[in-house]
Amino acid sequence: MSARLIFNIGELTTNDPTLGDGSVLGRLRDAALVVDETKVLWVGESAKAPGCDESIDADGAAVVPGFVDSHTHLVFAGERSDEFEARMAGTPYDGGGIARTVAATREASRIELHTQTAKRVRELQAGGVTTMEIKSGYELTLSGEQRLLAIASEFTDEVTFLGAHVVPDEFAHDRRAYVELVIDQMLERCAPMARWADVFCEQGAFDVDEAREILLQARIMGLGLRVHGNQLGDSGGVALAVELDAASVDHCTFVNDHDLEALAASGTVATLLPGAEFCTRSSYPSGRRLLDAGATVALATDCNPGTSYVTSMSFVIALAVREMAMTVDEALWAATRGGARALRRDDVGHLGVGARADVVLLDAPRAAHLAYRPCGAVVGRTLRALR
Ligand code: NIG
Ligand code: FE
Repeated sequence: MSARLIFNIGELTTNDPTLGDGSVLGRLRDAALVVDETKVLWVGESAKAPGCDESIDADGAAVVPGFVDSHTHLVFAGERSDEFEARMAGTPYDGGGIARTVAATREASRIELHTQTAKRVRELQAGGVTTMEIKSGYELTLSGEQRLLAIASEFTDEVTFLGAHVVPDEFAHDRRAYVELVIDQMLERCAPMARWADVFCEQGAFDVDEAREILLQARIMGLGLRVHGNQLGDSGGVALAVELDAASVDHCTFVNDHDLEALAASGTVATLLPGAEFCTRSSYPSGRRLLDAGATVALATDCNPGTSYVTSMSFVIALAVREMAMTVDEALWAATRGGARALRRDDVGHLGVGARADVVLLDAPRAAHLAYRPCGAVVGRTLRALR
């Protein structure tokens, strides 16, 4: 494909501070963008745009970078709406339902899992997601985790091994044996199929020492590190993630002052998943407190059948704005460039020259409509760069 011009953009958010108004959002008015099938080639005022063979008239609409959903559990079978209903009636979430999804996923055929995953990927993409991470974690056997990683790889390069999601029921009498299985066999066989390793570091899952041991081995096997931490309590997951220079620590619902300071001084992104608080009727993490402390914040869906059956990044943005005291601009950045940081990527999450041509045209004059009119109707056409 030759160059394609998108002109007449009412409000362009580039997330490149060298462009436009010089803010972190690098915002331009009456702007245009030239892309080819992979990259952004030119950004500037609509009136100065070069001619191209093909053009799209944005008709005054806002344009934003494609969303980067840096945390999903898309490969699973079954559903747990009964648990959701119980939580709405006051039953707290404790991670116990994960075993039910493990049982359903082990039962499912590869084709069934693939079909269900493809459907969820399409939902995310329809909502403007152009880069997504996908975790394993719902089989918890060597061959099962490999099966989930292989399916995830068909949809993304950002594949995460989450064999340390919980200790499966058959190891309940000997959790050490499961930790050793993860360290000795699963990591060796699964590492070539993944870019990342993640551990659910929480009471009822893995404690800090177990998580550290698993993550250190994952690093030896060449994987980047991520942590599910401080979702249900002060689990020590945030401090561990910073100690290990993990790319991201996700949930961060309970963070103490030491965690805040540590995050602010680190290269570890605090990824907030407000769909989980929504679906478990829990208190939201304080996005404001993290941002004011100087932490880098990302937003992601956490799409999974237990705590967050959510495939809309604009709903996540709306929750961050309404419930977590983030401004629309902070939430938009966190859902795009913040997600890219959480995946240690510089080529996505922004629309500077050379970035991947992942572009979302909104059916709205301003990006603020993402939160103002939540639930996805605002996301218009999405252009996704060829991979
Ligand atoms: O990110 N907290 C751990 N894992 C998922 C939930 C898994 C489940 O309940 O199925 C999460 O919230
Ligand atoms: Fe998760």
